[in-house]
Amino acid sequence: MTLDSSLTCNRTVCVTGAGGFIASWIVKLLLQKGYTVKGTVRNPDDPKNAHLRELEGANQRLTLHRADLLDYQSLMEAINGCVGVFHTASPVTDNPEQMVEPAVNGTKNVIMAAAKAKVRRVVFTSSIGTVYMDPNRSPDVVVDESCWSDLEFCKNTKNWYCYGKTVAEQVAWQMAEEKGVDLVVMNPVLVLGPLLQPTINASIVHILKYLTGSAKTYANLVQGYVHVRDVALAHILIFEDPSASGRYICAESILHRGEVVEILTKLFPEYPIPTKCSDEKNPRAKPYKFSNQKLKDLGMEFTPVKQCLSETVKSLQEKGHLPTPPPHQEDALRLQS
Ligand SMILES: NC(=O)c1ccc[n+]([C@@H]2O[C@H](COP(=O)([O-])OP(=O)(O)OC[C@H]3O[C@@H](n4cnc5c(N)ncnc54)[C@H](OP(=O)(O)O)[C@@H]3O)[C@@H](O)[C@H]2O)c1
Repeated sequence: MTLDSSLTCNRTVCVTGAGGFIASWIVKLLLQKGYTVKGTVRNPDDPKNAHLRELEGANQRLTLHRADLLDYQSLMEAINGCVGVFHTASPVTDNPEQMVEPAVNGTKNVIMAAAKAKVRRVVFTSSIGTVYMDPNRSPDVVVDESCWSDLEFCKNTKNWYCYGKTVAEQVAWQMAEEKGVDLVVMNPVLVLGPLLQPTINASIVHILKYLTGSAKTYANLVQGYVHVRDVALAHILIFEDPSASGRYICAESILHRGEVVEILTKLFPEYPIPTKCSDEKNPRAKPYKFSNQKLKDLGMEFTPVKQCLSETVKSLQEKGHLPTPPPHQEDALRLQS
């Protein structure tokens, strides 16, 4: 049976960590496409997951299942009867105790349960952090899906998030091979865009800190950016396309922090956005070269980063995380006269 024909018989899929930033969008788009979704959350009664029940189609086709990544049985119950699994749940932290074990053993549990349940395909949400953390790569190299982060470097720099994600992805590939699971992997750069969930996740803090006044300067660093809707779409694309295989870098552009604050200042001049770099001695960090061709070849089109930043800020305002500032004093006086 091909992946397509299996989908006509069974359109039930599991999304782990369904209440998270990226997973909520995956659930939303899956429901829109007519899938039946079994979402795992650690606590179905927690108000932070209530937004999932408000999604279009949720009443008819979404069920929430209590599961922890370290509890194989709870994952097995959610994955049973599914044709596919989107394994998105993971801690997102640099605390080694909180990061490594759930990321790695949780991924093992998901792949084992998927093998037992004989799902057609598993899509694992990995990260660009498993790809580009390599101090020995020449700046001329185009970062693509063949690149892997250096575990020793991650350890030495105490980058436990990238360490945990890299080991988790390696384990996923190894176990998928052993258990005969069809695995495809998504490697997104920093994900921004409108929030569906009521809480703030780590990648959104990256932008929020520039708007609240908590960051007085910006770092001399570069970063890749991608829109959350595109990331969710890409997950579904590599699940559905029978020709999809291996890893997929999901990135729209790489910007220096200075470019990010410049765009934000142009779009939202009302906020106290930093204008100074914290490092005035060293030359400005240069963006690395990357390839998102593999996803483009599957038909993926990316939302421009400027739109992504704009939608992020508007969403933060709408959700009450960011005050809509009063007009500048001069504007207010002009309005009064
Ligand atoms: N956002 C980005 O920029 C970005 C970029 C590249 C890759 N990623 C990857 O994308 C995935 C989702 O990230 P996100 O940004 O959407 O983060 P998020 O909003 O923090 O979502 C993470 C989810 O994982 C769940 N989770 C954490 N530990 C768990 C455990 N032990 N058992 C069960 N569930 C657990 C969380 O559940 P609780 O709500 O119960 O804590 C939450 O729903 C992660 O795998 C992350 O590594 C994110």
